[in-house]
Amino acid sequence: MDKLLIEGGTRLEGAIDVGGSKNAALPILFGTILLDGPMTFTNVPNLRDIHTTLTLLGILGCPCAYDSRVVRAAPGQLKAEAPYDLVRTMRASVLCLGPLLARIGEARVALPGGCAIGARPVDQHLKGLEKMGAHFELESGYILGRCNGLKGAHITFDMPTVGGTENLLMAATLAEGETVLENCAREPEVVDLAEFLRHCGARIEGHGSSTITVQGVSSLRGSSYAVMPDRIEAGTFLAAAAITGGDLLVRGCPYDELEAVILKLQGMGMRIEQTPEGVRAVCDGPLNGTDVKTQPYPGFPTDMQAQIMAVMALARGASMVEERIFENRFMHVLELVRLGADIRVSGRTAMIRGVERLTGAPVMASDLRASASLVLAGLAAHGVTEVQRIYHLDRGYERIEDKLNAVGARIRRVKD
Ligand code: EPZ
Repeated sequence: MDKLLIEGGTRLEGAIDVGGSKNAALPILFGTILLDGPMTFTNVPNLRDIHTTLTLLGILGCPCAYDSRVVRAAPGQLKAEAPYDLVRTMRASVLCLGPLLARIGEARVALPGGCAIGARPVDQHLKGLEKMGAHFELESGYILGRCNGLKGAHITFDMPTVGGTENLLMAATLAEGETVLENCAREPEVVDLAEFLRHCGARIEGHGSSTITVQGVSSLRGSSYAVMPDRIEAGTFLAAAAITGGDLLVRGCPYDELEAVILKLQGMGMRIEQTPEGVRAVCDGPLNGTDVKTQPYPGFPTDMQAQIMAVMALARGASMVEERIFENRFMHVLELVRLGADIRVSGRTAMIRGVERLTGAPVMASDLRASASLVLAGLAAHGVTEVQRIYHLDRGYERIEDKLNAVGARIRRVKD
């Protein structure tokens, strides 16, 4: 396993590029199962989860080729089984359920199981698909789904679920008749999936709002599509400018889709503005603490919670973080405390008191965004921070050390 050695204390300055969005690319790639023709995707980030998805698609009868952030996919004779050894490494594999049922009326998908940040149930996915005519049973850790064609339905989610909205949206594109989805997730990645599907002939309205209406069609054609930029990678770079007192031009940074994060960082004292080349983030003085509650879009994204907490650890005064989406997304706290942060957790709330300095030490990554938080803290800590188990980081950030070193960081990737 690799680890990162970070020599902290340098101010980041310069331009840094944002890659394609992991959380848009994953559902979009699974959407290939719906198509009856070849597909070309561009701006697909070179990430572990992407390659896991491409492997799974190959097993499902949809062979894909990846080369320099371009994916060429050719849907063929589809198979129904998504094997456990792949699904357990990537929960998003459950997104093949809706497309497989829509196309071949059958799916055998391993129950994804929990992960570090929470139980991550899929009950909303199954309930919605059942309303469309699917029948499920659980057998030896697999979800076995069958249907004789899916029928449009009126479905209301118990909570805005990104994956649930995406699974049902994909299933509805080929269902018979009209499907109305209520209380949908409004994340930009859901919008990107809908735009890709419309590109292929799907009839979708209302994506980005809480109510999405889909008129089923008989087939969807292949096309070409560019994946949106990754707003969470971009937000992580804004946080890197904040924690190092830096000055970064984040090229390809979506501004409106990051508004909740940008407003919080500006409230802490960052200067963040849109320029023709990208979003400029300047931290030319000490930052003040703030309070954050994670919420469904357009609220503050849970995927930026660990990163802004690292910034708060060195901000003046007290900050409070309430994690309202996942029940166990504070795994980074004790690792930040090892670096000298003053953070106390009570239930789903963390109280952070800013400290003068952090000091480098060995720390352990536990999940994707927690590992990003530890990298950020390492950039500011005095001395060397050793971040272990960075395979978590590689799931969602493409060679983050190369991008950060190009703007002044001192990070080395070594074999553990
Ligand atoms: C997506 O996960 C993202 N992953 C997550 O990003 C992100 O944190 C999350 O949305 C919330 O924004 C991808 O897009 C691949 P949810 P997802 O369904 O779809 C509960 C990252 O770091 N729920 O919106 O799994 C669930 O327990 C990852 O990039 C049910 O109860 O999240 C959670 O509390 C981590 N039943 C809440 O809803 C269900 O059937 C939101 O989960 C589904 C969800």
